[in-house]
Amino acid sequence: MSGYPPEMQESVRMVEATRPRRLKETFPTMSLEEREALLKAYHPDYKDETFRAIRVGVSKGQRMPHELADVVEGRPHIGPDFDLTPIAETDVLVIGGGGAGASAALLAQENGAKVILVTKLRFGDANTMMAQGGIQAADRPNDSPTIHYLDVIGGGHFTNVPELVEALVMDAPFVIKWLEELGMMFDKEPDGTMVEAHGGGTSRKRMHSARDYTGAEIMRVLRDEVRNREPDITVIDFSPAIELVLDDKGQVVGAVVMNLETGAKGYIQAKAVILATGGGGRLHYQGFPTTNHYGATADGVVLAYRISAPLGYLESMQYHPTGAAFPEQILGQLVTEKVRGLGAQVVNKYGEQFVYPLEPRDVESAAFLRECARGNGVVTPTGQVGVWLDSPMIDIIHGPGTIQRALPAMVRQFARFGIDMTKEPILVYPTLHYQNGGVRLRADGSTEIPGLFIAGEVSAGVHGHNRLMGNSLLEILVFGRRSGRNAALWSHQVKPGKPTLAHLEKWNRELEEAGVNTGVVSPILLPDYTRKK
Ligand code: FUM
Repeated sequence: MSGYPPEMQESVRMVEATRPRRLKETFPTMSLEEREALLKAYHPDYKDETFRAIRVGVSKGQRMPHELADVVEGRPHIGPDFDLTPIAETDVLVIGGGGAGASAALLAQENGAKVILVTKLRFGDANTMMAQGGIQAADRPNDSPTIHYLDVIGGGHFTNVPELVEALVMDAPFVIKWLEELGMMFDKEPDGTMVEAHGGGTSRKRMHSARDYTGAEIMRVLRDEVRNREPDITVIDFSPAIELVLDDKGQVVGAVVMNLETGAKGYIQAKAVILATGGGGRLHYQGFPTTNHYGATADGVVLAYRISAPLGYLESMQYHPTGAAFPEQILGQLVTEKVRGLGAQVVNKYGEQFVYPLEPRDVESAAFLRECARGNGVVTPTGQVGVWLDSPMIDIIHGPGTIQRALPAMVRQFARFGIDMTKEPILVYPTLHYQNGGVRLRADGSTEIPGLFIAGEVSAGVHGHNRLMGNSLLEILVFGRRSGRNAALWSHQVKPGKPTLAHLEKWNRELEEAGVNTGVVSPILLPDYTRKK
């Protein structure tokens, strides 16, 4: 029995009818010129009217989506006269409880620092946990960090910061070994070698995975290890940072955090701070659904910018081509690129291919949007449009049971709604997935602000204007580790001055003088889903 309503079943039958022919067909990849033209015409980043330049601060003029500009230009939760008597003291304060924060905490502790890790929700409630497809590392004889480097900058439209890409690809093989030592259960061949696959834009198979819950498996071992190191590392849940604190020499010396349950606010004094707060998918730019975790509200960008850390690349957001488009209960949730990596083709409502399935993500998403705009998408009973991902092809190509083995979480996700993805295609549409930009990062994990280190999606520059699959799980670990180590080293030698919130006077004055009032108090911490009149 089909899990689709009758009006969608008709299209499913067409997908089935064209499948035997398509199994013998490979859709051609696009030329660079074709890609550029498609992006300009259909990618959401090119919709000028949905962006604006920010009007205050060191990166005044930086373009970003309106929704993000409103929170970046927001008013603080506290005033400059807030009481800075510390409620806790530490060497390194890590803000964020995903993979970047956890690996930063581990390396800071290993390098002799006392660490406090504060997290907005529970430790591990983060995009890392939801990452499915895999983590890239060039560790096979036919591959090398150099080839990985070329893929990353090609995918990023050659706008990446070269030293950051170098750090990413050079540390990658070590990071995989580190995860294995921590107990991570990677997918292996019967002979014990790693299973490695392609992702969009990769020229070698280098995607390491743990089925389709790679991020959850990474988070499992990192979280266990952090817990093993208590009390050198203290984890405080439900306590987001609402303001960074500088000293009278301009060095970061901690943050004001808020207890989400009671609303109480207090200053945690630290010699160094690592921001690992993730991205901002929950701002739903241009009304797109998102794969992101509930807490992804761009807090780190807001906090760092208020103390004058330069921003970059925020005119560039990543839309993952395959967000679930049916049923509505899972709208926007990730359908891993691995589904296409294993051979599932993308087809329109007539069952015809219209794009090579593994173009770089921005190109693939733009092709989906174009196909739907041309009226070739499938419309669901609630009016959502999408294209088919022909998942049953995977078992036909690789043998029965492959889907169940490689994508058990995805099979379960759709089965809950009566859809058997081993037998019927699944409907997908682009979904807001990743923030290519953020706070400008240096290769050692530091920023232009002394004492402020960053890691992960909050940062800018590694991926240029488009990230390839599997380089985000890699990035959080490479730069989590680098920032953790270097924050610890900084904490051993820094001479902190007197803590102050004087930067808030300057910020409020600048907003006044520029006549900016977005009506937002930020960081907003949680998305607002209340129905607006
Ligand atoms: O498709 C995916 O599994 C997503 C991976 C990523 O964004 O790196």
